[in-house]
Amino acid sequence: MDTNIQSTLQEDRLFQPPAKFAAQARIPNREALDALREKAEQDHEGFWAEQAREELDWHTPFESVLDDSKAPRYQWFADGKINVSHNCLDRHLAQRGDKTAIVFEGEQGDTRHISYAELHRDVCRFANGLKSLGVASGDRVVIYMPMVPEAVIAMQACARIGATHSVVFGGFSAEALKDRIENAAAKVVITADGGHRGGKVVELKAAADQALSNGCDSIEKVVVLKRAGNDIGFQPGRDIWWSELMEGQAETCEPTWVGSEHPLFLLYTSGSTGKPKGIEHSSAGYLLGAITTMKWVFDINDNDVFWCTADVGWVTGHTYVAYGPLACGATMLMYEGAPTVPDAGRFWKICEDHNVSIFYTAPTAIRALMKAGDAFPQQYDLSSIRLLGTVGEPINPEAWMWYHRVIGGERCPIVDTWWQTETGAHMIAPMPGAVATKPGSCTLPLPGIAADVVDADGNSIEQPNQGGFLVIRKPWPSMVRGVWGDDQRFYDTYWKQFDTQKFYLAGDNARRDEDGYFWIMGRIDDVLNVSGHRLGTMEVESALVAHPLVAEAAVVSRPHDIKGESIFAFVVLRGERPEGGIDKSLTRELREWVGKQIGAIAKPDDMRFADNLPKTRSGKIMRRLLRTIACGEEITQDTSTLENEGIVLQLQGKA
Ligand code: WT7
Repeated sequence: MDTNIQSTLQEDRLFQPPAKFAAQARIPNREALDALREKAEQDHEGFWAEQAREELDWHTPFESVLDDSKAPRYQWFADGKINVSHNCLDRHLAQRGDKTAIVFEGEQGDTRHISYAELHRDVCRFANGLKSLGVASGDRVVIYMPMVPEAVIAMQACARIGATHSVVFGGFSAEALKDRIENAAAKVVITADGGHRGGKVVELKAAADQALSNGCDSIEKVVVLKRAGNDIGFQPGRDIWWSELMEGQAETCEPTWVGSEHPLFLLYTSGSTGKPKGIEHSSAGYLLGAITTMKWVFDINDNDVFWCTADVGWVTGHTYVAYGPLACGATMLMYEGAPTVPDAGRFWKICEDHNVSIFYTAPTAIRALMKAGDAFPQQYDLSSIRLLGTVGEPINPEAWMWYHRVIGGERCPIVDTWWQTETGAHMIAPMPGAVATKPGSCTLPLPGIAADVVDADGNSIEQPNQGGFLVIRKPWPSMVRGVWGDDQRFYDTYWKQFDTQKFYLAGDNARRDEDGYFWIMGRIDDVLNVSGHRLGTMEVESALVAHPLVAEAAVVSRPHDIKGESIFAFVVLRGERPEGGIDKSLTRELREWVGKQIGAIAKPDDMRFADNLPKTRSGKIMRRLLRTIACGEEITQDTSTLENEGIVLQLQGKA
């Protein structure tokens, strides 16, 4: 079998759902899936209303299903009342109180098992603690934590009292944290002294202190979990230890019943231009998306140990760590650290030690672990795994085949799940007992998800393998509700392009093959995708330009074996251009600088200094040209419109 296929276009392998898997699956065949899909097509609202009645525990049932009077701020189940934390915890207590909700493993090997009853108790106590700090329904709380159970407890506690959380990835810098606190005007920050990652202590409290040292006036309290035991500064009156806040708090806390549309969380995500956007999600609709996809795509059941490796700082860590598994009463695993500590066998050791049955990670991690060699996974017994998943970017067939063969032992289906921060939950993904998979394709839209590929006029592209815009033609319950504080940007980014048709513009290019399978081709704008994380070019560029020596910068991505894409920066200095366009020590300094401003993930891998950047007459940087140069490809674009054509040689490093 040829496993070295470069272009997904040549991919014609088809993997039928293994009979053994299908036999036990919730959706056991294509007929069952088609029946669901048909039901949704015939009555979109009725379908989702039925799901919402079946899957969610309502305090006040809804009458209104879809309200489009404030479109594109669509509202689902708007007159119903609900509490997300009640749906994740309380409703399981009678039957699953002693069942393990969270299996935790720290990077240094410490483990904890937390039952549903214990989790419920801790969430209630912490919720009462937050209330005692004056946090009320509608307030924003920023969570800047390592991957420890307390991060989930904090999120669930916010949900319990109707506070809207905004989790900031622990790998982000003080500067990024500050921007997000200020944009959301948050009242409280929940953080930790530090977390363990890659054999080091990530000093979260120090970064939070720095963020708060100038600005962030809305912050009243800082809650600090003791995790790594590192020395920290402590500001009495403002700072309070997690343990002190928990002390003496009642072990129950009546959930605050909120409207379905109450904002459960904000999550900041990058666009191609401007500052990160605070993506707003609802309560009921969001949770419904989390639950239906846990059941349809992950086929979750009571015996599973579910492990999604994503950090809670990303949407995947919201839907498939903090909410989805708990809402389904499942056992889920959380791991604090890096996949390579102490070696590249760590993930596989964890799978063996804790009997992981469903494993969900990103292609970037799969590629890195594949590169480390088969010897690592072969040391461990991976027979507990029954289902594998990927998310974040297209997976190249070579990595897919490795995942299938070496990790899945050729017996586990792989679910390649396409979705976005904005969609809240999986949108295009196989139901593993019902859909044959093709390496590199996310396969078919889920029931009730009207995904389509259209041309610039919004017409469906019927011809197979013709690329176009990926759109969603009808609203769905877990969809983004807005961009925090910026309705115009919400409209401009997602709705403006297909305004008359009212389609949601995903921002990706995609094609459909002869079988109707979707293949994601890339983003239509300039967003970088490093290790499965979206970064805006603008964010990196503005970080570079913030350095006193830098006048102007443009960053583009180029393909990278491990990270998917790496960042190539073209920099114009305020002073003299270094000899030959290369300056190693300045490159090092600027990389560190970007790391401080945004986070290590945004550090450019390559940097070249030029006297100027290639621009169009209207002053727009010619990114396509820069990408060609970054990839070392031959230039076919017309460069005659450039002010200084000689600049091309400089940019290529040839002058
Ligand atoms: C973008 C969304 C959704 C959680 C992780 C990233 C790309 C995501 C896939 C996939 C091909 C994918 C798209 C999408 N993407 N999943 N299975 N196949 N591409 O969330 O940061 O909001 O990024 O990631 O380009 O638009 P995000």
